[in-house]
Amino acid sequence: MSTTTRPTAFSVADLQLVQQYALCERDSWEADPTQPIWSAMRREAVEAVERDALMAGQINAAILRHASFADGLAARIAHKLADGDFGEPCMAALATEAIADSPSIARAAARDLMAVRDRDPACRDLITPFLFFKGFLSLQSYRIAHWLWLRGREHLARQIQSRTSEMFGVDIHPAARVGCGIMIDHGTGLVIGETAVVEDDVSMLHGVTLGGTGKQGGDRHPKIRRGVLLGAGAKVLGNITVGEGAKVGAGSIVLDSVEPHTTVVGVPARPVGEKLTDMPAFTMDQMLPGPDYVI
Ligand SMILES: CC(C)(COP(=O)(O)OP(=O)(O)OC[C@H]1O[C@@H](n2cnc3c(N)ncnc32)[C@H](O)[C@@H]1OP(=O)(O)O)[C@@H](O)C(=O)NCCC(=O)NCCS
Repeated sequence: MSTTTRPTAFSVADLQLVQQYALCERDSWEADPTQPIWSAMRREAVEAVERDALMAGQINAAILRHASFADGLAARIAHKLADGDFGEPCMAALATEAIADSPSIARAAARDLMAVRDRDPACRDLITPFLFFKGFLSLQSYRIAHWLWLRGREHLARQIQSRTSEMFGVDIHPAARVGCGIMIDHGTGLVIGETAVVEDDVSMLHGVTLGGTGKQGGDRHPKIRRGVLLGAGAKVLGNITVGEGAKVGAGSIVLDSVEPHTTVVGVPARPVGEKLTDMPAFTMDQMLPGPDYVI
C-alpha cells in the first residue's frame, strides 16, 4: 500500500467553514467604506475555494475568517511580517491597533487594491494582490511603519521596514509620505527615501529608486505628483519634482524636475514627444508619444 500522504493545506473543517462564511454576510456593516470591497473579496474567496479546495486553509485564515477589510488586512500583514523577534499574535495586535487608531490606513489600502486590479493587466481580481503581490503587501506594511514613526516609535518602525525589505525586496523609509491609489507592480528593488513624497494615484514598476544624489542633506528626496507613471528601473534623484501626470521611461535617471504631463527618458533623462493629455498612471500607457512628423 502506498504511504504517500495527501497535502494538508486545508482540513474538512476549513471547507465547512467556507460554506458557512458564504452564507453569513453581515447585514449591519455600519458606515465602513471598505465594506463593499470586502464583500466582493469574500465572494471571490468562496469561488476560489470552489475551484480549488487546496486554497481553503489559506483563504479562511486570510479572508473569510475576518469580519472586515481592516481585520483581514491586519491579519495578512501580521502573517507576512512575523519573525522570531515579533510573532504573529504580536504583529497582529500592532497592526490592529494602528488601523483602529488611523482608519485611513484601511481606506488607503482599499484604494491601492482597486488601483492594482484596475491597472495591472495581469491581475483579474482583488484577492490575488491581497494574498500574493509584493507591491501591495509592502505598501501596506509601510503604512503601519509610518504610523509608528509618526508616534515616535522609531525602532519598531525600523523593524517593520527591515522585515518588509527581507520579505518583499521593497525598502520604503517609514518617514516617507505616500498617498493612496498607488500601484506598485512587481515591487522587487523599489527604494523610497526618507523625505520623498508620493502623491495619490501614482503607478510605479519594479526597480524604481526615489533617492538622494548623495550631495544634499535634509529634504533631499523627490516629490512625485499625482498620476505619475514611473517605468521599471527609473532612478529619480534629488529634491526635484516630477509634475502631475508625467511619465518617466524605464531605465531613466532623472536629475532635474519634470514638467507636468511630460514624458522624460534616458540617462540623464530629457523630455521627449508631445505633452500628455491624460494621466499615464491610470492607463499604464508606456508608449512614447509619436513623432510630430509624417513620412
Ligand atoms: C554622480 C553624482 C554623484 C553626481 O556627481 P557630480 O559630479 O556632482 O555631477 P553633477 O550633478 O554636477 O552632474 C554632472 C554631469 O553628470 C550628469 N550626471 C550626474 N549624475 C549622473 C548619473 N547618475 N548618470 C548619468 N549622468 C549623470 C549630469 O547630468 C551632468 O551632466 P551635464 O554636465 O551634461 O549637464 C550623482 O548624480 C549620483 O548619481 N549619485 C548617486 C546617488 C544614488 O545612488 N542615490 C540612490 C540613493 S538610494
